[in-house]
Amino acid sequence: MKALILSGGKGTRLRPLTYTGAKQLVPVANKPILWYGIEALISAGISDIGIIISPETGDEIQRKTGNGSKFGINITYIVQNSPDGLAHAVKIAQPFLGDSPFVMYLGDNLIADDLTQYLQEFKEQNLDALILLRKVSNPSAFGVATVNEKGEVLALVEKPKNPPSNLALVGIYFFSPQIHRSISTLKPSARGELEITDAIQKLLEDKKLVSARQLKNWWLDTGKKDDLLEANRIILDTNLTAENLGRIEGNTQLIGRVKIGKNTKIINSTIRGPVIIGENCYIENCFIGPYSSIADNVTLTESDLEHSVVLESAQILNIQQRIVDSVIGQRAKINLVSKRPKALSLMIGDDSHIELT
Ligand code: G1P
Repeated sequence: MKALILSGGKGTRLRPLTYTGAKQLVPVANKPILWYGIEALISAGISDIGIIISPETGDEIQRKTGNGSKFGINITYIVQNSPDGLAHAVKIAQPFLGDSPFVMYLGDNLIADDLTQYLQEFKEQNLDALILLRKVSNPSAFGVATVNEKGEVLALVEKPKNPPSNLALVGIYFFSPQIHRSISTLKPSARGELEITDAIQKLLEDKKLVSARQLKNWWLDTGKKDDLLEANRIILDTNLTAENLGRIEGNTQLIGRVKIGKNTKIINSTIRGPVIIGENCYIENCFIGPYSSIADNVTLTESDLEHSVVLESAQILNIQQRIVDSVIGQRAKINLVSKRPKALSLMIGDDSHIELT
């Protein structure tokens, strides 16, 4: 059994972060989203993973993720020159996949369920496709399945205007090599892509064995800011264990589960977990509240922060107001200066969002 992780795409909904980096490398609890997928596949027993990358962000993904040795597996990178769809990605991965069955995993998806049980059912029942579904409130944004009362899949449709059900296709699929034959018959969809949803629909029409399971726990597609913050909240809530490798000075209080990396210095501050703080950070006279992830090399002074993700080398200085529900990009600097006349002075990236109250 192999796996194919799709880690291309432009990440338009996470701009401006994705102007300078891949959306799959945006950290959740200080770890790239992509690595959660890799680890989920490894814990289901898979050790041969292909990763589809784009020419724009592929180098960064390869550099950070490597050849798999840090995970104890093999990773093969496959470049998709243009974003021509999920089924197109499978097509170009055919030399890597050969005639092996495989799990296809969209690199910005996170689920709580263990994949092992689904993988076993896929193998035991000799299925050609096993898809995972989850009820959503906005099915038009996804691939949507129609299932009968026995749970059998009747039809699939990609991003329908009038959704036939509220069951969305989660971005994790199990396929037999039969999918390659189905993909070879596809024509591009209205959005100009070879859709994996159409390929599975073709399997259904050809009376191949397609089955679906509804996820038991949460699923997050981290392509947007609010989903990213929600993923960060859930991962910190469920996975974080307290550890302090840094230096705590003055009147500093660590409350609840707080994890602090090497060479980080915290002075006269209150940190209320769950909170993760990376290496080489400097924090003075701050309150850092629950569900915050602070990456390496961040400076925070005289500021309050809660339910937020701060990326590497950002600086938040003297803000004296609470920052909440925020994602602060790499090397971003927010500073309060006492100058008259009072005014905002901004140098912000394209597609940035700032809310002032
Ligand atoms: C893709 C699939 C869609 C699925 C979704 C899950 O959509 O085409 O069927 O529901 O992933 O995240 P995309 O994110 O490419 O728009």
